[in-house]
Parts: sequence; structure tokens; C-alpha cells
Amino acid sequence: MSFNRKKEFILNILSSNRSIFQKEAILDDWFKIQHYQIESTVSSEDKDCYGEAPLDPRAIYTSYLDFFNIAKKLDFNQGGSFVDLGAGVGRSKLLYSFIYPQLKVICIEKMQGRLKACEKSLSYFGLDTTGLICGDLNEIEIPVADYYFIYLPAGKMLNRVLGELKKIAKSKPFTLIAIESHGDLFDKLEKFAPWLTRKDSHLQTALERHNNNIHFYQPLESKEMDVYLKEEQDVFKKFMEVLKAEGRIQLTDIPKVYRHNFILSLSGRNDIELVIKDRSIGDNEDHLWLASTTDIETSLLKDHYHSRFPSRDFRVKQIYKIIMAPPELKLWRGLRFRDAEFMDFGLVRKILIYPHVQIEFSKKGRVDIGNLTSNIKTKSFFSDLY
Ligand SMILES: C[S@@+](CC[C@H](N)C(=O)[O-])C[C@H]1O[C@@H](n2cnc3c(N)ncnc32)[C@H](O)[C@@H]1O
Repeated sequence: MSFNRKKEFILNILSSNRSIFQKEAILDDWFKIQHYQIESTVSSEDKDCYGEAPLDPRAIYTSYLDFFNIAKKLDFNQGGSFVDLGAGVGRSKLLYSFIYPQLKVICIEKMQGRLKACEKSLSYFGLDTTGLICGDLNEIEIPVADYYFIYLPAGKMLNRVLGELKKIAKSKPFTLIAIESHGDLFDKLEKFAPWLTRKDSHLQTALERHNNNIHFYQPLESKEMDVYLKEEQDVFKKFMEVLKAEGRIQLTDIPKVYRHNFILSLSGRNDIELVIKDRSIGDNEDHLWLASTTDIETSLLKDHYHSRFPSRDFRVKQIYKIIMAPPELKLWRGLRFRDAEFMDFGLVRKILIYPHVQIEFSKKGRVDIGNLTSNIKTKSFFSDLY
């Protein structure tokens, strides 16, 4: 079959009146994509990569029809470059190699087995296999392109991807195409990437999703981007200065547009704590506990952050204050980072600062700090920490 006949075959399947599931199955089969066989080679350890078998491809892949409709809408006949960020088996590349050979498609995917399947299929059809990059979006340099496609979990990795795209936007306009299935990606794009504007026009996905829209975003123009970045830098600097001088700030003091990124910008620091307002079951009063900003990330739960020290999810609204870590809690904070047991009390689970300053231990429960200081004075536990 000639290249053109193959292309015609694909277009016929896409425009036929078969159900979307039949179209998917026929094209996967034709491209020699056997999901269950591929997934048996994929590690199940990384929750971002949906490695848990058995996998239903409808749950994690964009349909060929959606990729086709996106291409028509953005007019890929004009060529350009397209990066599928977290490409799976590279359905975008398989389809576009036939229908839009003038488009340069790059697929970045962590799971080698999925990318190998794409490579095998391209080789079988004698197509160009360049642009298949096995890599981790948490680390890899994202190539400069005209179009980026994301259908990804909205956790820490997404923030890294947005950080990279933000840098690219300084020098190059692009279109970001996004699909979501858990109901949190669009929301996160709006909160964490205020420099992106969602276009009014959108497409409907062919497969049932939490949100059935395919959205298109564009970054600010290069000059406006410079202004935005400068402002962001100034705001972060100003609030860091206030935090250092006064020891505390309120999240609501920070202009809304910068709030979320300000919190994430603290993730590399170990001297700042978030004061979290909480209420235990059965209590009729709130208590306050400390969550370190070290490694803070967005949670997979909507409107939540995830702290690593201690490992907890909490709502944005629960952040009562942002404070410089109190020196008198240095020992307990240090133990919390270290995951080390204090005498026979166990691990430090939580540091509470209101209504009483208490340390919550894994074995002993909550102990008033006053009752602990005598233990510290008499024994030289972790003397480097205080
Ligand atoms: C929901 S699927 C979407 C696949 C493809 N873009 C599509 O729409 O058909 C997300 C893909 O991203 C990949 N992924 C998740 N985290 C990744 C990471 N840190 N680096 C690279 N790929 C990742 C997963 O393995 C998965 O194949």
C-alpha cells in the first residue's frame, strides 16, 4: 500500500460512522499498538505514569480523532513543531506522521515500553523515528516548539513543566493544548500559570472525560511576559523581606495571582513554616500545626497542597500564616526532617503551636513542650539540632 493509500485509510476510519471505540481499536490494531502486551513491560511503581495493569487505553490516551480535530483546528498543514509532553504510545506522532508529515512531532515519555511500541510501529511503516525522547518531565529540558500538548496528572511534575514553558514563553509564542480527566488540570493551569490565557474557542473530546473540553492556551507576548516575570520577582522579593523582618505574613497579603507560585517558590527552603489551621474530630476548638515548606507541592486533591514534613494534604484555606521557623523548635523540626525517633517517644509526627505548644509523637501521642525540655537538658540527644 502506498503512503497516500495508508493516509486515506486512516482518514476513512476517522470520518466513518463507526463508534469512537471501534475507531480507536481499528487504528491501534493497524498501528500495531497492543496495549496489554505493552503495559506488561511497563513498571507500575510511578503513580504519575499509570503503570497499574490491566490498563484501559481509553482512560489514559487521547483518541486519534481528538488529535485529528486538534490538528484541523490549529491547521497543522502549515507545519511547525509539536511536543507531546508525556506521550504514552505516541498516538499523536503515529497519526501526524501520516496525515501531517510536514509537522515535526516530538514525544517525551518516561515509560520506555510505551515509546518503544511507537518506535516499532513507525519503523514498520518506514517512517522517521526521530523525536522520540525517553525522559522524565521532572528533569528533562523541554524543546522549544510551536505547540505543546498536555494530558498529565496535575502534581509536582506539572509545576516543573509549567516552569519550563514559562522560560520558553519569554522568547517564543506557542499554543498549549490541554485535556484533563481528573478535574484538576485546567484549574491548576489557571492558578499556577497566570501568564497563560485560555482561548475562548475549544473542542469537545471524543472520549468521555471529567471535563469534555480540549482547551487552548497562549502565553503573554514576550514583552508582557518580561513585565509579568519582573513583577513576580519583585513581589516574591518584597514578601520575603517582610517575612524575614516581621517573622510572619498572611497568605492573603500576597496578591492572588502570585499566591500559589509564592508558596511553591519556598519549596527549596528549610527555614520557613506554614501555620495550618485544623480541627480534630471531637474537638470544639481549632488547633494550629506547622508544615515545613521544604519540598512543598500541589496535592492531587483539588485546592490542596501536600507537605512532606509532615506528610499531609491540607486545603489552601487552612494556611493561617507563613512564618520564619521559631528557633526554639529547632530540635523538633530537625527530628521531623530526619525521621529519627526521640527516646522511646517515637517519631515526630506533628508540631502543634496552638492552643498548646506540643509535639505529637508516633508512640507517645501529644506531649507538652514544657515536659520535654527537662529530658533534653538531662540527656544530650541530637545535640547538633539545638
Ligand atoms: C494521560 S497519559 C497521556 C498520553 C498522551 N499524551 C495522550 O494524550 O494520548 C500521560 C502520559 O504521561 C507519562 N508521564 C507521566 N509522568 C511523566 C514524567 N514525569 N515524565 C515523562 N512522562 C510522564 C505517563 O507515563 C503517560 O504515558
